[in-house]
Amino acid sequence: MTAHNALIVDLPPIPPLDERIGLNSVAGLGHVLAPGEIDISHGTILYLEDVTVSFDGFRALNKLTLSIDVGELRCVIGPNGAGKTTMMDVITGKTRPDAGKVFLGQTLDLARMSEPVIARTGIGRKFQKPTVFENHPVWENLELAMKTDKRWFASLRARLDGQAQARIEETLELIRLQHQATRLAGELSHGQKQRLEIGMLLMQQPSLLLLDEPAAGMTDHETMELAELLNKLRGSCSMMVVEHDMEFVAALAGVNGKVTVMAEGSVLAEGSLDDVKRDEAVIESYLGR
Ligand SMILES: Nc1ncnc2c1ncn2[C@@H]1O[C@H](COP(=O)(O)OP(=O)(O)O)[C@@H](O)[C@H]1O
Ligand SMILES: [Mg+2]
Repeated sequence: MTAHNALIVDLPPIPPLDERIGLNSVAGLGHVLAPGEIDISHGTILYLEDVTVSFDGFRALNKLTLSIDVGELRCVIGPNGAGKTTMMDVITGKTRPDAGKVFLGQTLDLARMSEPVIARTGIGRKFQKPTVFENHPVWENLELAMKTDKRWFASLRARLDGQAQARIEETLELIRLQHQATRLAGELSHGQKQRLEIGMLLMQQPSLLLLDEPAAGMTDHETMELAELLNKLRGSCSMMVVEHDMEFVAALAGVNGKVTVMAEGSVLAEGSLDDVKRDEAVIESYLGR
């Protein structure tokens, strides 16, 4: 399970991610989960069952059931209005489900938690538009993101030093902005801003990253750079990526990665990209258009 530490420079005051997310309990050593710790003893990071959300009688989500494995990179596709963004709103606590179960790991009942409390469980969300601090240098954007993580902040006052800096530099390299570190974020290209925002989310050591159409508005080259970044994160944090760009999805899902197709608020099909592409219902409702 060392992959879970891949993004984290060893900082003694912070429990390693595998401890925070309760991997110790996998060993069956009777490890008691600390408050807020995520129990992934069954290998599932996110579990939705029969989730229903209605807006004025219209069912944006209709008995949606899906689960994501720890470390998985799940692509979700589907026509506009399928409920993909609403699903992310439910997971992050922005929208309350009318019915159904929403769990992070085995024990954290997201349907009963407030948005800020859910944010503290380590669910990071990337919206479509980049939201970076335009008037601050790239480097400082990452520093600010790190400081908004309470777990870091407590330990940081004593040691905003070499180790924190090393982590920022490591993230800069990962998002391939090491040569842009001192530029203002506002001067970056769209693709670079999107990568910076993902870097900012990574500074908070997310247990689950939700990315809603991250490649929208990107050039083909930027899209493939983003795919490369997300592929590098594979295994170290669990991700759910909603996207329309099929080349991007293909680059993320590979041959065996599971793709979920949503339509009318439910899962229409699930399987490898090739499987779902051949699915009659998928062709009819989405691809065939
Ligand atoms: N806050 C809201 N109030 C009313 N209707 C909404 C709201 N949010 C989403 N919807 C509707 O729910 C459906 C699903 O929307 P959405 O989740 O944005 O789909 P997707 O992201 O798959 O395109 C759409 O028909 C949309 O108009
Ligand atoms: Mg959407």
